Amino acid sequence: MLRDHTDRRTFPSFQLRWEMISLESLGVGLHLVPPTEQYRESFVRGFHEFRSERLPWWFGGDLEIVEQDFATFVARKLSDANRRADGFVPKTHRWAVAEDQFVGRISIHHELNDALRLEGGHIGYDTVPSCRGRGVATEMLRQILPVARGLGLKEVLLTCNDTNAASIRVIEANGGSLRETKALDPNRPPKRYYWISLT
Ligand SMILES: CC(C)(COP(=O)(O)OP(=O)(O)OC[C@H]1O[C@@H](n2cnc3c(N)ncnc32)[C@H](O)[C@@H]1OP(=O)(O)O)[C@@H](O)C(=O)NCCC(=O)NCCS
Repeated sequence: MLRDHTDRRTFPSFQLRWEMISLESLGVGLHLVPPTEQYRESFVRGFHEFRSERLPWWFGGDLEIVEQDFATFVARKLSDANRRADGFVPKTHRWAVAEDQFVGRISIHHELNDALRLEGGHIGYDTVPSCRGRGVATEMLRQILPVARGLGLKEVLLTCNDTNAASIRVIEANGGSLRETKALDPNRPPKRYYWISLT
């Protein structure tokens, strides 16, 4: 379910037509898929949007090969679900697709370690900036919860900044219960700790 938060009446007619097509196309059945080469073009477009807003986790690591070798990038994302000797916590990735376009990403850590208990939790997500405010994240989280249950998790931790109003709404709309708010660093907003029961 995707919602339209745009007041279409404020658009001049040519823009109104563009918005209606774009919003209509997003509204048709968002679904989650494992990383795949099929959505290379829209993923790369989304990747550039994420980088433009300078979210730190869209830099470094395996992301550097997105443009040069997408097949290897996808293979690495899929293999993140495997247990490794170096202590990396296995992670399942899903991409959100609406009307054949990549619109967001969500992932689940199969378990918590001390670092994730403090920041990161089990589940993390991002919506492509140009697709925000249309219910993408709320729907991604709703659809990933059965996947988490399938991994044997009984409840999941989601951490988010006390200032991240959109993420707070996404988590609460999916039954998140606020257990704690903690200041980790005086120069950063306090962190909220939400749990969602899967039983
Ligand atoms: C947080 C984020 C994932 C939300 O994605 P989204 O697809 O826009 O979320 P939704 O459209 O499902 O919106 C969820 C709610 O937040 C509200 N919302 C959206 N943007 C908002 C904003 N800037 N301020 C306040 N509320 C906002 C929406 O109105 C909606 O509320 P409603 O359900 O009462 O109508 C997205 O902003 C994002 O990717 N941010 C950067 C990365 C990030 O913060 N990830 C989460 C880390 S915890």
